Amino acid sequence: MSLRSLLTGLLALSSTAFTAAYALHPRSSITPPDGCPIPNWTVSNFKWFNGSHSLDCIHSDVDKNTKGCLCGQGWCDPDPATCNGSMVNVCWTGMPNYEPWGYGPKQTLDIGFEDGLTCHDEYIGYRIHDIAHGESNCGYADRGAGRIVAFYGSSNEASSVGHMDYTLGSGHSLKCENGSSITYSGSVDFPLTCEHDSYFNATCTAPVFEVPVLSYQWV
Ligand SMILES: *[C@@H]1O[C@H](CO)[C@@H](O)[C@H](O)[C@H]1NC(C)=O
Ligand SMILES: *[C@@H]1O[C@H](CO)[C@@H](O)[C@H](O)[C@H]1NC(C)=O
Ligand SMILES: *[C@@H]1O[C@H](CO)[C@@H](O)[C@H](O)[C@H]1NC(C)=O
Ligand SMILES: *[C@@H]1O[C@H](CO)[C@@H](O)[C@H](O)[C@H]1NC(C)=O
Ligand SMILES: *[C@@H]1O[C@H](CO)[C@@H](O)[C@H](O)[C@H]1NC(C)=O
Repeated sequence: MSLRSLLTGLLALSSTAFTAAYALHPRSSITPPDGCPIPNWTVSNFKWFNGSHSLDCIHSDVDKNTKGCLCGQGWCDPDPATCNGSMVNVCWTGMPNYEPWGYGPKQTLDIGFEDGLTCHDEYIGYRIHDIAHGESNCGYADRGAGRIVAFYGSSNEASSVGHMDYTLGSGHSLKCENGSSITYSGSVDFPLTCEHDSYFNATCTAPVFEVPVLSYQWV
């Protein structure tokens, strides 16, 4: 059984106080092979906004089937009888913004590392990245080089455990003293705190945490 599925099981049974305490003791990084550098993946800024009425074209069948009135550069009252533009599916790609009539602010995710790497996701219809269900967008142009930061979590509880996996792709390999190239990956569970306003919009943050490096690979 993986640590994640174990934790998920424990979450269902235990108080959040227990899981938060558990998450404060992550594993420590491996020792790199002789003469090889090792990265330090410290997250200094973490912010996830998930509105109670953010458009969700991946997990919500209602949203997938909702039509809106596209009028010029924006959205008007989605009543086919009065719509002076055209009735279109709100989940279609390339709509003017992804906050159609009747929907709240879109979902966003920002992760900032101490070494300068920043990851930003926001709703873009077809969603290249499904926020809180895996890969996040850490510099779109950088994707080919394969530096993948994946985040998993829930914004529905005041406090819970988030999970992050970091994979340094071969395009970002590091050089050892003898000229060999090496890549690394790591994982961590971290405490996730979500504040809900009166509409149940969730703003989730995490204290500064480190993703320990747990394995390496020669490239
Ligand atoms: C460089 O050193 C590592 C161990 O530190 C070793 O596994 C690797 O084979 C070496 N590479 C070369 C080109 O000698
Ligand atoms: C990584 O950097 C953080 C903050 O600068 C520091 O607290 C931590 O000890 C470092 N981790 C390692 C494994 O060196
Ligand atoms: C449609 O009507 C709304 C007001 O109901 C108006 O704001 C909008 O500019 C109109 N759009 C077009 C394309 O005529
Ligand atoms: C919270 O949700 C409501 C309803 O969707 C929305 O009108 C409001 O703008 C949201 N507030 C914030 C701070 O995003
Ligand atoms: C995002 O917010 C919606 C509305 O509150 C909720 O149903 C959904 O589970 C949240 N997503 C995650 C991954 O927690």
